[in-house]
Amino acid sequence: MANKPLTMEDRVEKLHDAQAHNKAGGGEKRIEKQHSQGKLTARERIDALLDPGSFNEVGLFRKNRTTTFGMDKADMPAEGVVTGSGTVRGRPIHVASQDFTVMGGSAGESHNKKVVEMMESALATGTPFLIFNDSGGARIQEGIDSLSGYGQVFYANVKLSGVVPQICIIAGPCAGGAVYSPALADYVIQTRKAQMFITGPAVIKQVTGEEITGEALGGADAHQNISGVNHFVADDDEQAIAIAKKLLSFFPQNNREDPPIVDTDPDMSYNPKLLDIIPTEDKKGYDVRDIIKEVVDLGDFLEVQAGYAKNIVVGYARINGRSVGIVANNPMAMAGVLDINASDKGAKFVSTCDAFNIPIVTFVDVPGYLPGVAQEHGGIIRHGAKMLYAYSEATVPLITVVLRKSYGGSYLAMASKDLGADRVFAWPTAEIAVMGAEGAAAVVFKKEIAAADDPEKAREEKIQEYRDTFATPFMSAARGLVDEIIDPGETRAKIANALELLANKRKTRPEKKHGLEPV
Ligand code: HXC
Repeated sequence: MANKPLTMEDRVEKLHDAQAHNKAGGGEKRIEKQHSQGKLTARERIDALLDPGSFNEVGLFRKNRTTTFGMDKADMPAEGVVTGSGTVRGRPIHVASQDFTVMGGSAGESHNKKVVEMMESALATGTPFLIFNDSGGARIQEGIDSLSGYGQVFYANVKLSGVVPQICIIAGPCAGGAVYSPALADYVIQTRKAQMFITGPAVIKQVTGEEITGEALGGADAHQNISGVNHFVADDDEQAIAIAKKLLSFFPQNNREDPPIVDTDPDMSYNPKLLDIIPTEDKKGYDVRDIIKEVVDLGDFLEVQAGYAKNIVVGYARINGRSVGIVANNPMAMAGVLDINASDKGAKFVSTCDAFNIPIVTFVDVPGYLPGVAQEHGGIIRHGAKMLYAYSEATVPLITVVLRKSYGGSYLAMASKDLGADRVFAWPTAEIAVMGAEGAAAVVFKKEIAAADDPEKAREEKIQEYRDTFATPFMSAARGLVDEIIDPGETRAKIANALELLANKRKTRPEKKHGLEPV
């Protein structure tokens, strides 16, 4: 007797069963283990990121074609990675979320293909791409196919670079070559449950004899404070997701759009607090973030890489509702000097803002590039050049506020007029000079000081003479290198006006394949 044909209801029920099975990932036990480690599952992460009900999954029933090591019999829901699109605060985004409960989130050919398809779709539709990494790395059973898959992800990372924002949330293990996709993305947010390294403690011990724990080697704090690999640290998945949402809010959807304008804080009144932040004593430090917070909308500043190269502060904020990237020397750390790490950090940030049409506001209080054998031999020349390159290459509105010191090469590097700044404001405390007064006097007046009856007194006098001449903003204003010397209390209004004026700025560069950025 022929089988009774399946009704539509039967087929729909079967579909729902199959969907439920695959959505359960690696099963209850493994989900419990994930939760017991304080981690959300791949699907819970996507739910927490996207607007409710906005997720459209792609590839729930995807399978791999591997037959070796029993892979043909393995049940691998969604190939260990949940992919699709949805919206974050109403704006479309493509996502991938590695499912550690399915064979440790390991990435084989088909798994990686799913990721690449979402990246390609993000590129085609001009929407950001975000991935949650939580994986044991290349799926060992698939051998070279896994590696090839990773290669395709890297290739796609580079294709998307500068076209749509790419964010990686490192929410679990991320080891071996797998670390290079995050490194090729724009932003890495690492949770305190996650570790990243090319080779783990065991291999390091074998090769170099060094002993270190996984956490000390590649934990969130190590990559925030020592290596500079991550841009943000989050206690857990929820916090990482909140950071990602905030970060995305400053960005346009792609490089052809401008960032959204938000009606945040139209108050432009005079702010007397800005008069009291810079200490009267010339050499005393202060925290430049106190100035930033008084200038930006609602004092709301999302600092990037807060623990790395603290002598330079970078991050996102809004001024009169417009997204801005802020770059500021911080005299609180190493007197705000530019060293190798600060140059790397600043330059990458500037070029990220430029790629995504985010105007840059630069606050300057910099005594110079850092002297020293370690810096010279570490390549401060080529690293420092990155700052010059990034600002000179930028075509977004550049607004510079010179707060205090601005000496020599570092003056040029911090968005000077000659490197393309559209508006340069200076506070009355600004000292724009080829070098500090002490050093300058020692060189220029060496003979007079040596020949004086009282060399120490002569030295003091000459330093003062040099300072009176150059350690003010007036000489620079006379040369047109400063557009306006402003009362600090009106800084916010001045920047807001300049942003408004420059909103439609268009600047072209000579046609070329790409420039050769110093590395
Ligand atoms: C296949 C893997 C896997 C992998 C984990 N699993 N990693 N399966 N390929 N790479 C499986 C485990 O067998 C296990 O299956 C499940 O995932 C969970 O793993 P556990 O070890 O039980 O979890 P845990 O104790 O939390 O340890 C997590 C871990 C560990 C530290 C990530 O799994 C681990 O060390 N994995 C291997 C890491 C690695 O060497 N990867 C390859 C690196 S080479 P069951 O069935 O028991 O649940 C590489 C090159 C990439 O990545 C190059 C790209 C260019």
